[in-house]
Amino acid sequence: MKTAIVYYSQHHGNTKKLLDAIAAGHDVTLIDVTRNPAPNLSHYDRIGLASGIYFSDVAKQITAFARGPLPAGKEVFFLGTCGASPTESFFKNLRKITDSKGCRFLGQYICTGYDTFGPFKLVGGLRKGHPDAAEIRAAVEFYAGL
Ligand SMILES: Cc1cc2nc3c(=O)[nH]c(=O)nc-3n(C[C@H](O)[C@H](O)[C@H](O)COP(=O)(O)O)c2cc1C
Repeated sequence: MKTAIVYYSQHHGNTKKLLDAIAAGHDVTLIDVTRNPAPNLSHYDRIGLASGIYFSDVAKQITAFARGPLPAGKEVFFLGTCGASPTESFFKNLRKITDSKGCRFLGQYICTGYDTFGPFKLVGGLRKGHPDAAEIRAAVEFYAGL
């Protein structure tokens, strides 16, 4: 099962921490969408989309990848980190896009991530130390269980 994960992790690299832990134990290709916004993933079976949450949604670069270069009909899964309470509804717009492309949804994982956006910076940030070891482990378990 050839797997790639296309990701956007620019705030503190929080989401990338989950991906590095997954890639440490699994054969998976990580693709930074800011460096390669239009990779050809036609030869992959499963495609993960991973992002920090910005304004209650995934990064617009991930949305653009899903709308455009993501090949139709692939198996997909989502990973993310957020400063607020993790809710899977942050992925709802992304899910609509992948459903509309006939992709088979395998599951999603989201946990907290260090957040110093705007006023949170003044108070030392939210979710300091996150994702923590337990959250990273849970992400790896999520991936292993796909
Ligand atoms: C511009 C901006 C907007 C954000 N908006 C939200 C939001 O709407 N909801 C939320 O829970 N977290 C929000 N966050 C916090 C990030 O989702 C969180 O820090 C995440 O772990 C960042 O992931 P990254 O380090 O992989 O980019 C925001 C952060 C930034 C910088």
